[in-house]
Amino acid sequence: MPLVCLTDFQAYAQEHLSKSTWDFIEGGADECFTRDDNIAAFKKIRLRPRYLRDVREVDTRTTIQGEEITVPICIAPTGFHCLVWPDGEMSTARAAQAAGICYITSTYASCTLEDIVATAPRGLKWFQLYVQSDRQLNKQVVQKAESLGFKALVITVDTPKIGNRRCDFRNKLDLQMNLLLKDLRSPKERNSMPYFQMCPIDSSFCWNDLSWLQSITRLPIILKGILTKEDAELAVKHNVHGIIVSNHGGRQLDDVPASIDALTEVVAAVKGKMEVYLDGGIRTGNDVLKALALGAKCVFLGRPILWGLAYKGEHGVEEVLNLIKNEFHTSMTLTGCRSVAEIHQDLVQFSRL
Ligand code: FNR
Repeated sequence: MPLVCLTDFQAYAQEHLSKSTWDFIEGGADECFTRDDNIAAFKKIRLRPRYLRDVREVDTRTTIQGEEITVPICIAPTGFHCLVWPDGEMSTARAAQAAGICYITSTYASCTLEDIVATAPRGLKWFQLYVQSDRQLNKQVVQKAESLGFKALVITVDTPKIGNRRCDFRNKLDLQMNLLLKDLRSPKERNSMPYFQMCPIDSSFCWNDLSWLQSITRLPIILKGILTKEDAELAVKHNVHGIIVSNHGGRQLDDVPASIDALTEVVAAVKGKMEVYLDGGIRTGNDVLKALALGAKCVFLGRPILWGLAYKGEHGVEEVLNLIKNEFHTSMTLTGCRSVAEIHQDLVQFSRL
């Protein structure tokens, strides 16, 4: 049977991945309330279509940080792609390049940054950093990403420690023993010491440390995981270049708002001073349209990319991207939007349910 929507890929992945890998991908923190709310919250928003417009030509292109992408749907950072497909992130990078969209490569990529860039040299790529306690190590990896041609640095702020993922505890998932995390190790340490033991995420990193990061790179800095107007205002004050409104797919702090519910307050707080993006729960073209109507410049997909990877590697990710791109084109056409610039807040209303 053909796979005709993103959740068909989800069902395929569930059937074909090992239980512990499936649980790792799908899992949320604690009771998974926020993970599920990310999806449910989109369903509380209704569309207000406008008809009798000439929609023969619908242009889905836009820009992020000044770079053109074919559609405002890109790839969120997720770690350990080799768990799902043999050449992992290399397949993902090629699919993103073919689609003409941005791929945010995770700190926890299971392929080296060199291999990822070599396999998809023309694709737009950003690098996501979990700030490490060892400053020197951060400097090395950030400067390496910059010299390899990554175009922005995404700092994930919602992970001063890993959330309580009950399934991973039950499965006794031991990523550090199973995976080669090559980029953050010195040649001596490579193959000898598990990465997590070597250098934990820096839970002391705070607003004032951003200036240090800004001093070691010319790349624009994007903060991923902002959910409140207070932090959005601080982001403006600290001269970062963008925010990804995100709750980590519900994998970190449970009981925070769905990303789409936090978007409006963040967009209002930044007052157009930087681009705001969103991830979490995007499963259809209509979801993309709703996020853009509420002020996101672009959205990012997490789990659906891994489902595509589990289906057919690079070609599975391409299928997922094409499918949601076509859905988004339909959503724009049926609501009377001929360009991304025509997607405004009056396209949506909140349901009373
Ligand atoms: C993630 N996410 C994540 N975020 C990040 O900043 N660095 C990372 O290494 C990872 N790793 C990761 C692994 C897996 C398996 C998942 C599912 C998620 C979070 C990710 O970037 C994104 O915020 C969410 O996945 C978005 O929600 P959806 O699209 O999965 O609903």
